[in-house]
Amino acid sequence: MADQVKTIAVLTSGGDAPGMNAAIRAVVRTAIARGLKVKGIERGYMGLLNEEIIDMETHNVSDIIQKGGTILGTARCPEFKFPDVQQKGADICKKHGIDGLVVIGGDGSYRGAQALARLGINAIGLPGTIDLDIACTDYTIGFDTAVNTAMEAIDKVRDTSSSHERCSVIEVMGRHAGYIALWCGIANGAEDILIPEKYDYNEQAIINNIIEKRKMGKKHHIIINAEGIGHSNSMAKRIEAATGIETRATILGHMQRGGSPTCKDRYYASIMGAYAVDLLIEGKTKRVVGYRNGEFIDYDIEEALAMTKNIPEYSFEISKLLAK
Ligand code: ADP
Ligand code: F6P
Repeated sequence: MADQVKTIAVLTSGGDAPGMNAAIRAVVRTAIARGLKVKGIERGYMGLLNEEIIDMETHNVSDIIQKGGTILGTARCPEFKFPDVQQKGADICKKHGIDGLVVIGGDGSYRGAQALARLGINAIGLPGTIDLDIACTDYTIGFDTAVNTAMEAIDKVRDTSSSHERCSVIEVMGRHAGYIALWCGIANGAEDILIPEKYDYNEQAIINNIIEKRKMGKKHHIIINAEGIGHSNSMAKRIEAATGIETRATILGHMQRGGSPTCKDRYYASIMGAYAVDLLIEGKTKRVVGYRNGEFIDYDIEEALAMTKNIPEYSFEISKLLAK
């Protein structure tokens, strides 16, 4: 088995996430240590189609573990959903002698890897997204850094919000998932947490809550609003009109995706990068790497993509209880 895979490639796809560089570095260095050749594909599937393929040596991944973003660049490439385009991608891999591919991205990127695997390219997916919305894993590369970045930013907004005795609606990322909102809501001690998975949005209840808390002497009122609910600016205007309390919206946006990765993101991404290479060396394909119950694990991509993930009920219930 071990001599089947000789040259592997790595690409990053979808939204960048802090820790992707640690994963790239681990893929490159593990592969070289195991006697493989490694290539980097720039700009995700778009770069694959444009043959933006470079040789990677140990020194190419020096001084990157501490950097946010991805040194390979990333892109969204909608046309990769089409079978003829996927076939072109597989043909390009074969032309460049790539017989193993590590794809670092979210579940959209996994679908591209799944397509390439079906076309004979050994492919392994690594969970790279700040959204934590990949069902087969409790951990995704970048989430830890993103929630810490958002948490620090929310603390700062709270300082000024309390000083001015305002209400703040703070919108965090997460696409359709509310994990960043839930974690920050709890970690920042928010008075209200709005997430799409538990869409119980009742503006009058929020307004009543603000008025009641103000009567109790609270000088701030922080509402963490997930991107999946959105409309933070209009929400803030309506809250101000109804309560008479100055209300500001802050949309944290892409700053949540940047910055130097936390220790956790560097560590997990490093182990996952090595794990992906070792799966390829074992002759495995069409697998995704995850972390569950204290262990690094792997699943068949089809099985992983069929899984569903919910917001943890107990944490959600406690988040409501603590927001008093
Ligand atoms: P993420 O990987 O973070 O979920 P996207 O959903 O934007 O981000 O997907 C990243 C890229 O993966 C897309 O731009 C596209 O190139 C590829 N991709 C997404 N969905 C599919 C699909 N159904 N089939 C093949 N490739 C896909
Ligand atoms: O998937 C990561 C993410 O940052 C989401 O939280 C967000 O909805 C999306 O990407 C934003 O994408 P873009 O950078 O293309 O605007």
